[in-house]
Amino acid sequence: MLSQRAVTTSDAFRVVVDFIFASRYGDRRGDPRIADFTFGNPQEMPLPGLVAAIREQAIPQNKDWYAYKTSEEAPQTFLAERLSQELGLPFEPPDVALTSGAFAAISVAFHLLLDAGDEAIYSEPAWFCYEPMLVTANAVPRPVALKKPRFDLDVDAIEAAIGPCTRLVIVNTPHNPTGRIYERADLEELAACLERASRRIGRRIFLLSDEPYRRLRFDNRGFTSPAAIYPWTLISYSYGKVLLSPGQRLGYLAISPRMPHAERQALRDAVFATQMGLGWCFPNAVMQYAVPQLERLSIDVQALARRRDALTEALTRGGHTVLRPDGTFYLWVKWADGDSERKWNAFADRDVFVMPGNLMKTDDYFRVCLTASDEMVERALPVFAGRG
Ligand SMILES: Cc1ncc(COP(=O)(O)O)c(C=O)c1O
Repeated sequence: MLSQRAVTTSDAFRVVVDFIFASRYGDRRGDPRIADFTFGNPQEMPLPGLVAAIREQAIPQNKDWYAYKTSEEAPQTFLAERLSQELGLPFEPPDVALTSGAFAAISVAFHLLLDAGDEAIYSEPAWFCYEPMLVTANAVPRPVALKKPRFDLDVDAIEAAIGPCTRLVIVNTPHNPTGRIYERADLEELAACLERASRRIGRRIFLLSDEPYRRLRFDNRGFTSPAAIYPWTLISYSYGKVLLSPGQRLGYLAISPRMPHAERQALRDAVFATQMGLGWCFPNAVMQYAVPQLERLSIDVQALARRRDALTEALTRGGHTVLRPDGTFYLWVKWADGDSERKWNAFADRDVFVMPGNLMKTDDYFRVCLTASDEMVERALPVFAGRG
């Protein structure tokens, strides 16, 4: 009854979907008695500024207020200016396509750049949706490993993975799940590799810089976007992280202004139809009107840092090894020696739920999401600090 495409998509997302709906976590999801450190969902009331902006912008000012909205000129112009300041690159309004979050931006990028059978390289551990989204796009996922113990980009491994069908390399910085922000020197090395490899295979390799955590950085860490280093770069961004409101879909796909004119223009020209063809991947009207207000808001990064420190201390006492994150709202933790499944269940027995590393193909690690409430953190500290 189902199409082969639907079956393939379901299979590709199986591990994530089973964790959400058919696991011990699935059984307890939403139960107020659990301390939930799994997904980047809010565990407290939303930012008041977000609520105020949505309320204000929901009131119609003309008959077209709720008409079809594509990438509207006002938010495009506003964002081109803001991005130019933030990243030091001269974005123009048509470089910025408004999307319903980073999910849609990534999907649009895949559709714009990848033909059936084209290969896309990304580094693991990775966000668990790149692979199934590539499979859904009829492309071929080509994961390479990040370099332990600090999970550095492995440019040699990327270069070795590049073949005649390679079309795209995905870089996620700040990185989910490790929290790493890649240094300019690493990105320069990668750019040189992509330049060399593009010449070798006779085909331009593009880079997708997935940056939804760009504003969530600890300890005054700086940030360099790959878009400033490698001209053939597209940026995917989402407000779902910085506002902790992933259900209010808003994001964008931005073309690096350093991209040569012909490719930049071709992408600008194709993006609108691609967004329509993929099922109207534009954000809704109210979120578009609210962009200037939302740009000023952020969740409390100091609070995330406090939770990071308290949880790191407890987990370390429990014998686990925590990688100190530069950004994002995650801790990436190596299980204390022993059976990681048994240990995950021991946490769950005490109502504490973390994301098992097998969702990111790394069984000996787990992810702790810092968006849990302070009250959840307090309850979980003795559990994380316990040995055995
Ligand atoms: C690395 C990465 N990219 C993209 C996304 C998708 O973000 P959104 O749901 O806000 O579109 C996520 C969400 O977890 C993510 O971690």
